[in-house]
Amino acid sequence: MVVKLHDLYFKPFVNANELDGVVQRMVNEIAADIGDEIPVFVGIMNGSFMFVSDFVKKYPNPCEVTFIKLASYEGVKSTEDIQRLIGLTQDLTGRTVVILEDIIDSGNTLEEVHRIFKNENVKQLLIATLFYKPEAYNKDFKLHYIGKEIPNKFIVGYGLDYDGLGRDLPDVYQLKTTQHMTNIVLFGPPGAGKGTQANFLKEKYDLVHISTGDVFRYNIKNETALGMLAKSYMDKGELVPDQVTIDMLNKEVEKNADANGFIFDGFPRTNAQAKALDELMDSKDSQINAMVALEVDDEVLVERLLKRGETSGRADDADESIIRNRIKEYYDKTAILKDYYSAQDKYYGVDGVGSIEDITERLSAVIDKL
Ligand code: IMP
Ligand code: MG
Repeated sequence: MVVKLHDLYFKPFVNANELDGVVQRMVNEIAADIGDEIPVFVGIMNGSFMFVSDFVKKYPNPCEVTFIKLASYEGVKSTEDIQRLIGLTQDLTGRTVVILEDIIDSGNTLEEVHRIFKNENVKQLLIATLFYKPEAYNKDFKLHYIGKEIPNKFIVGYGLDYDGLGRDLPDVYQLKTTQHMTNIVLFGPPGAGKGTQANFLKEKYDLVHISTGDVFRYNIKNETALGMLAKSYMDKGELVPDQVTIDMLNKEVEKNADANGFIFDGFPRTNAQAKALDELMDSKDSQINAMVALEVDDEVLVERLLKRGETSGRADDADESIIRNRIKEYYDKTAILKDYYSAQDKYYGVDGVGSIEDITERLSAVIDKL
């Protein structure tokens, strides 16, 4: 489940159960190293309160616990300027001190910790951090115990906050980097006017239209590696494996990384493909927001296509039984997808009978609500 804090969205990253295991492992390591001596655990407030609490509950031997309060973060950015809000309130001369940090990012806070302890004459100062972002760390103080190394992305939960919110969450969540994309899977039986409407939506919402047919033709014409791979299957009269198609779509999505969203047209056609598309969007910190299907009565479609056949000269638009077959095939295939997206509450049927403007208005009404 994605959580929203202020203006940002966060996705599940480390659950409470895994955290428990990580904390237990740190306790075991530290207890083994310290032995019988009574250590002073120093939590860095506020972020470490949950970690310290769980840690000392698990700690098998007598220990002391205290806190100092430092602040360095503004929003989701680390700042150089560390404020000492509550300092040490007891004499730690000759003691083994273990700093318990929730997270070490740039290391600025840790530098301040070292400054604080420089004149305290402690026996030893050990640093333990639940989370560590190696890509962000730019100091060289030794980190004696690390719970979990994580990528340089902002996280919340289990004590960690984003502007005050999220500390109470028992699980840890990671910032979603691609926000607010509108991704639509567009469906419509032959003759429903899908192409016309896709063009309109693309303009109005500044979306990128990914027509699987066009993507295939582009890759084959330009002899890309994926195009050649796809062609090798087609030449043998075999279906192109889903993974090849997904890899092509992935390239298109990556080419347009700063798009407002995508209109997928011609894909997915099966449950497995719909799942693969969900996974692809998930890997981009995004999601399919809706399957929008234009609904047009069969008789209207037949009439439209026959009329189109009179002028377009397209052979498959001229024969009524071929037309009826194409329409039937469309419903046979999309029924499964309708179920797939309905189960996620993402299916939107839109009445496709009327003037082009009427239909675009109906489509806009759906998209505006997403
Ligand atoms: P540093 O001074 O850059 O190492 O950052 C350390 C402090 O910044 C931590 O104690 C946290 O309070 C805060 N911080 C760093 N990264 C994150 C994060 O991903 N989420 C929430 N707070 C963070
Ligand atoms: Mg902190």
